[in-house]
Amino acid sequence: MTSPEPSTVAIVLAAGLGTRMRSRRPKVLHPLCGRPMLAYVVDAARAATGTRPLVVTSPSTAAVRDAFGDEVAWALQDEPRGTGDAVGAALAALDAPAAEVVVLSGDTPLLTSETVAALVQLRRRDGAAISLATVRPEEAGGYGRIVRDAGGVARIVEEKDATKAERGIGEVNAGLYAFDAAWLRGRIGDLRPSPASGEVYLTDLVALARSDGRKVTALEVEDEMELAGINDRVQLATAEADLRWRILEGHLLAGVTMQDPTTVFIDAVVELGQDVVIEPNVILRGRTRIGAETLIGAGSQISDSVVGERCRIRASVLESCEVEDEVTIGPFSHLRAGASIGRGAELGNYAEVKKSRLGPGTKQHHFSYIGDAEVGAGVNIGAGTITANYDGTRKHRTVIGDGAFIGSDTMLVAPVTIGEGAATGAGSVVTHDVPPGKMAVGVPARVRERQRKPAGGPEA
Ligand code: UD1
Ligand code: CA
Repeated sequence: MTSPEPSTVAIVLAAGLGTRMRSRRPKVLHPLCGRPMLAYVVDAARAATGTRPLVVTSPSTAAVRDAFGDEVAWALQDEPRGTGDAVGAALAALDAPAAEVVVLSGDTPLLTSETVAALVQLRRRDGAAISLATVRPEEAGGYGRIVRDAGGVARIVEEKDATKAERGIGEVNAGLYAFDAAWLRGRIGDLRPSPASGEVYLTDLVALARSDGRKVTALEVEDEMELAGINDRVQLATAEADLRWRILEGHLLAGVTMQDPTTVFIDAVVELGQDVVIEPNVILRGRTRIGAETLIGAGSQISDSVVGERCRIRASVLESCEVEDEVTIGPFSHLRAGASIGRGAELGNYAEVKKSRLGPGTKQHHFSYIGDAEVGAGVNIGAGTITANYDGTRKHRTVIGDGAFIGSDTMLVAPVTIGEGAATGAGSVVTHDVPPGKMAVGVPARVRERQRKPAGGPEA
């Protein structure tokens, strides 16, 4: 794709109240496959123009600014008086003069940068004051209708202002425009509020351009979903379903197996390696990365986590954690924020880990909680082991050395250190450090020599 000259600037409208969403949250911050809908529009605008988009917000959508920060430039529309007024506020905030202005709506997240670029090309080719994208949706309700005459697009009539005959028009305005910037600056101030709604319509510029003897041309987009505007939560759900399928298709074509994709949910920014297998009812959220040949078993939910290659994860929940290669997890394990699991480790039924490192080859098979701990390599955590990390006021750390053997039902009362190769007896409550190679038994635990099992003995 050839990007337009740098004097093209994109304005993204995001100051509207979005009342049809019936939400306390600004409409454009509602997520679609894990990202706010505005993020998709900003990406498409940036990719097509090669410049930082300018986003228009109003005091009621101020939260949008916190979510995006410096990624975009900002303009303020002090009150959402309509799309025409929003573009006026944006032009006033532009610091560099642009030859060409692209206007996008923050509520059309399925838009692609290719379509934006094609529209820009069309306007240049036609030397038009305005080129705009149109679609013929199955249901035209709610959209502005395109009124054509022999000279091209004559005007756009909003649904609220349309006659019955005009409502019958199947071609609608998609809310994506390319403008000759000099013409736009000269005419934006001439828009007047609509008598029907009191709003200042950007779409009224079409008739003004034609009365100036300028061309208005249209890019007819085939795929109506691409330009679907999201005004309510039914449309949000429909758009999410469409995007979700596009994401799944991308992974399937790239070499990921899913037995039943209709039950799999994968956020837009998730990365999957080759030959990953995803069983039914899996949810992968946020900045998650899964390495090649890993199996994500039925019922697993993974968010913002990095999982290595050739792991097996069954019916488990992983949040903001890191898992190295060849780890097996579950069924029913819970890895919470800050868990880091070393290569080849095994976590089993009802194993919970929080803010802890487990070294390579360490096993934590049954009903246990490891929190705020540093566990070495080759450690065996017995069934029912708990790091009692919280004294009611503060959290304390537990350190377990390489090769240690923690007996079933051990309470590790932190802060406490279990030395390398040390052991604890079943049911012990360990309140003091256990030196390397020693054994702690009892309540409270007392230290004695560790009696080693003969090599090859059974494991916990
Ligand atoms: C708009 C178009 C309509 C088109 C449809 C396509 C107008 C008058 N109508 O209608 O022809 O078919 O989009 O989806 O433009 N916004 C502001 N400030 C405002 C009002 C709106 O920034 O004062 C923003 C909104 O946040 C939104 C976008 O502009 O992102 C579109 O506004 P919306 O109210 O959804 O317009 P529609 O009624 O859908
Ligand atoms: Ca809309």
